[in-house]
Amino acid sequence: MKKLLRLDCSSRISGSHSRELADYFEKRWISENPNGIVIRRDLAKEQLPHIQNNTIEGFYTPDKYITPEIKEATALSDQLISELKSVDEILINSPLYNLNVPSNLKAYLDQTVRIGHTFNINESGYYGLLENKIAYLITAKGGIYKGTPMEQFHFQEPYLRAILGHMGIKTQELFSLEGASDSEAIEHNKLRLRNNIDQSFKK
Ligand SMILES: Cc1cc2nc3c(=O)[nH]c(=O)nc-3n(C[C@H](O)[C@H](O)[C@H](O)COP(=O)(O)O)c2cc1C
Repeated sequence: MKKLLRLDCSSRISGSHSRELADYFEKRWISENPNGIVIRRDLAKEQLPHIQNNTIEGFYTPDKYITPEIKEATALSDQLISELKSVDEILINSPLYNLNVPSNLKAYLDQTVRIGHTFNINESGYYGLLENKIAYLITAKGGIYKGTPMEQFHFQEPYLRAILGHMGIKTQELFSLEGASDSEAIEHNKLRLRNNIDQSFKK
């Protein structure tokens, strides 16, 4: 039975384009995987804490030196990583905020990108530990970046691909909604992306 972890990030609970497209993706995913399970984590409603001094101590303390205090400091990271490891596929829907991912998604990644758990290092360099998983990305942004001088400042999508890849997770598809602030073009752009989502399930 396939499992999908859905991460919602837009601070807009209603009127969010990325959430709307993720709802569409989720419906399609369920129709393809009628026995599948969707785990939802709403990072805007939930507001995960940023990692702290003792969280980092916990990340780098060998098991035999772990104290109850350190165990507690990494308990949330342990829980999020165990959830991430339990799924086959990940859907991240993320708005562009100030040229990058929203801070709630960065807080999630800081809790889950963890040495010895989701990536490791050897003499050849870093390698991911979640290599059997794939990710689908849905992004939404107000402006137009692709093919314009602004493209060089658009860090969200390359960053997401890179950090997921660092954990061994392959980005299977990216559905990128541009020009969300253009009220005339937006409906047409969303229709095109819904078609792209449909096509991705036919591959
Ligand atoms: C705090 C904030 C920062 C934003 N920064 C950018 C930006 O850097 N570039 C851009 O094109 N749009 C930016 N936008 C516009 C959003 O990316 C756009 O409204 C998008 O549709 C938001 O996703 P949502 O519809 O899922 O909420 C920003 C919006 C907010 C609220």
